[in-house]
Amino acid sequence: MSLGGIASTFKFLREITMTTPNASMANLDPVQLDEKDSLRHMRQRFHLPEDVIYLDGNSLGPASHAALAALKQAAHEEWAEGLIRSWNTAGWFNLPKTLGTRIAPLVGAAPEQLIVCDTVTLNLYKLLHAALTLRPGRRHIVAEASSFPTDLYIAQGVARHFPGVELKLSGRDADTLEELIDEDTAVVLINHVDYRSGVLQNMAALTATAHQAGALVVWDLCHSVGAMPIELDACQVDFAVGCTYKYLNGGPGAPALAYVAHRHHSHLDQPLAGWWGHARPFDFETDFTPAPGVQSLQTSTQAMLSMRCLDGALSDWAEVDLQALRKKSLQLTQYFMDLVGARLSAYPLQCITPKEPKLRGSQVSIQFEHAYPLVQALIARGVIGDFRAPDVMRFGFTPLYLGFEDVARAVDILQELLETEAWQDPAYAVRQAVT
Ligand SMILES: Cc1ncc(COP(=O)(O)O)c(C=O)c1O
Repeated sequence: MSLGGIASTFKFLREITMTTPNASMANLDPVQLDEKDSLRHMRQRFHLPEDVIYLDGNSLGPASHAALAALKQAAHEEWAEGLIRSWNTAGWFNLPKTLGTRIAPLVGAAPEQLIVCDTVTLNLYKLLHAALTLRPGRRHIVAEASSFPTDLYIAQGVARHFPGVELKLSGRDADTLEELIDEDTAVVLINHVDYRSGVLQNMAALTATAHQAGALVVWDLCHSVGAMPIELDACQVDFAVGCTYKYLNGGPGAPALAYVAHRHHSHLDQPLAGWWGHARPFDFETDFTPAPGVQSLQTSTQAMLSMRCLDGALSDWAEVDLQALRKKSLQLTQYFMDLVGARLSAYPLQCITPKEPKLRGSQVSIQFEHAYPLVQALIARGVIGDFRAPDVMRFGFTPLYLGFEDVARAVDILQELLETEAWQDPAYAVRQAVT
């Protein structure tokens, strides 16, 4: 994104952060808040290192005991002992569909519309391409300049294959998505929660706006699935992709989810048709015949150890009340923002995450000129958040394993680092490959 684009996004964010927040939580006792927490028992399901306050579950979720057990079983029994028989005997072959069915309630979708396969980036390519094919003659893919970069790279790549099609971006070609959506729009690609700022978009309203113009919509749920209730069917979403290694804790690089609304199944034409998406892969036919519905989205042999790990992680979700999850997520993020506001106002920290609950996801992002070394100093003290260029510290608040005492302790450590300026140690300025 251009610097102008970043500047206009942040200007917009500063404006919305000025909307009225709830009454401050800064004076509340974290111990009492933890005692009232209905999700508190879930923490014991996770393997979390001692002395770590993990505020990066929005980037890579931690290992749950169930995920590790499933991974162990898949490696030691299903692979080592079962060998190739496990494709049939351990349910491997159907796992992409099985996992889709398990995730369906988390995103408000009737089963059969979801599949877990490949990666977010690849699924985005397939679905954007499919959407453009369904809207011949329309010339624009509309997206946000602030989108996660892979979304933009994929959209640019897809556009190159459709003569005359180009990308129109809010934050670059207009201020808002709504201004760009018109009868020339083929598809609108939207990040449900912005990875950098944590801003939550209105799924129902934007989907309706796209549909009124005759366009289709693809939602990127990477930063919302597992963080809040989502209503794909009720919002009449066309397509969606989402990540399973963040809030769903499926493990590093776990396969991605893809959603295609029923009404598009019979016209779904995806460009990466491979043998796993064939109606009869083991007939080894010369020509491609798609498997029914979302199953045709699978491209190649799926990574079973990863899938089984995710399978284990999902077992913890069966009993999670998503309304309670969202309520706690908003409390955790508000508590953090209120404590930072009350105790650290002397420092040049700019919270770019909206205080208005309906406008934020489950993270808090703070702009600070020296964000990188400060995040490294926090990590060295066991408070793991992350840094997003150019100057954003990102803190994810995951209700299943974080408590209010964790939040208070993280703010204590942040305050101590700012007061002592310990973050100025040159060791913290050394840039690592992954930030
Ligand atoms: C919003 C968003 N979209 C897409 C991706 C890309 O995911 P993957 O690398 O699994 O394809 C990410 C990764 O963090 C993301 O945050």
